[in-house]
Amino acid sequence: MLLSAVEVHDFRNLQKVVIPTLPRLTMVVGPNGSGKTNLLEALYALRMGRPMSGTSWRPAIRRGATSFLIRSRENDSGAIHSYGLAYDLMRGRRSTLDGNAIDMKTFLTGRPALFFGPDSTDSLMSSPSRRRALVDSMIFALWPGHYDLALRYGQILRRRNALLKTGELRPLEALDTLFIQAASRFEDVRASFIQRLAPHMKAAWKALRPSGASLTLEYSPPRGEALKKKLEASLEKDLKRRHTSAGPHRSDVSIKVDGVPFRSALSRGEAKVLVLALNLAFVSMLSSGGVMPLMLVDDLASELDEQSRELAWRAIVATGCQVVLTSLDDGLFDGARVFTLDGGALVSDGGLDSD
Ligand SMILES: Nc1ncnc2c1ncn2[C@@H]1O[C@H](COP(=O)(O)OP(=O)(O)O)[C@@H](O)[C@H]1O
Ligand SMILES: [Mg+2]
Repeated sequence: MLLSAVEVHDFRNLQKVVIPTLPRLTMVVGPNGSGKTNLLEALYALRMGRPMSGTSWRPAIRRGATSFLIRSRENDSGAIHSYGLAYDLMRGRRSTLDGNAIDMKTFLTGRPALFFGPDSTDSLMSSPSRRRALVDSMIFALWPGHYDLALRYGQILRRRNALLKTGELRPLEALDTLFIQAASRFEDVRASFIQRLAPHMKAAWKALRPSGASLTLEYSPPRGEALKKKLEASLEKDLKRRHTSAGPHRSDVSIKVDGVPFRSALSRGEAKVLVLALNLAFVSMLSSGGVMPLMLVDDLASELDEQSRELAWRAIVATGCQVVLTSLDDGLFDGARVFTLDGGALVSDGGLDSD
């Protein structure tokens, strides 16, 4: 599904932005605060039906306005459809297809977007919980059915933690059979996702750092009998802390560069390249299943040297996906059509970037 036209009304600082023809590679340039990230956020909302961060649409309405509207024309192998997402302080959210209200599930089907921006590096670098959330979001996008496994595990974990608070051992023992079952199924899915992702990630990493260090990606959390033993060993501590210390809510993905854990092996800029490799690997998995996400790439140039930037752009273009990229300056990325934003409005459509 290709975006061929976009209209944004009263979304953050974008009062009215109309792009009547959107090519496969688009670059949005403009000074700080001009609304570049806001435009990507609007496109994300239109494709994913949820705010890019947080859960509320309210802060996205332009100050002084009472609703926002984002509309697109999209090309699905030759069939043209229009999509709309609106949020009104009084009436709430509304999603439309060709002018008719439709449910969110239909609205979202077959039109994913992926956002890669400066904060994406933190999602991998900062904490195991952010890494788990990132991996799980990829799994749910790829295999939506597995969302139920995560929900079920979450329910059982809450029950287990409640029992740890009461200190009653017998019901805890009974629950642990269920806990280990649900945990192991959830971990199996994560492990099989990581196993499938690993070759894509290696390839992406190699494209981004051709002479760089080797990368290994592994996920081997305790499951089944091993998890049972771990729970038994930590029971005393868990009763004291009133919290379960082993299971999918505590596992972590291991990423090593030349055998060294990535957090101590990589500089910030190199970590950005690693996170890009992860995203490209995910795109490669999606596209081998016939789904081409819209790639929203915010401020690709920041923290990257010229060569990394060039390789990053080349790898992004090579996915074959539609891309909307933002940058402070034009001239850095070949082949993209350049639009300039200033003060929340489109000031020019400068044609192809020929540098
Ligand atoms: N709801 C809103 N209404 C009006 N302006 C907003 C709203 N939310 C954010 N902004 C403004 O948007 C600007 C930031 O835009 P952003 O897209 O992040 O800029 P950049 O071009 O640097 O990516 C800030 O000046 C901020 O005040
Ligand atoms: Mg920005």
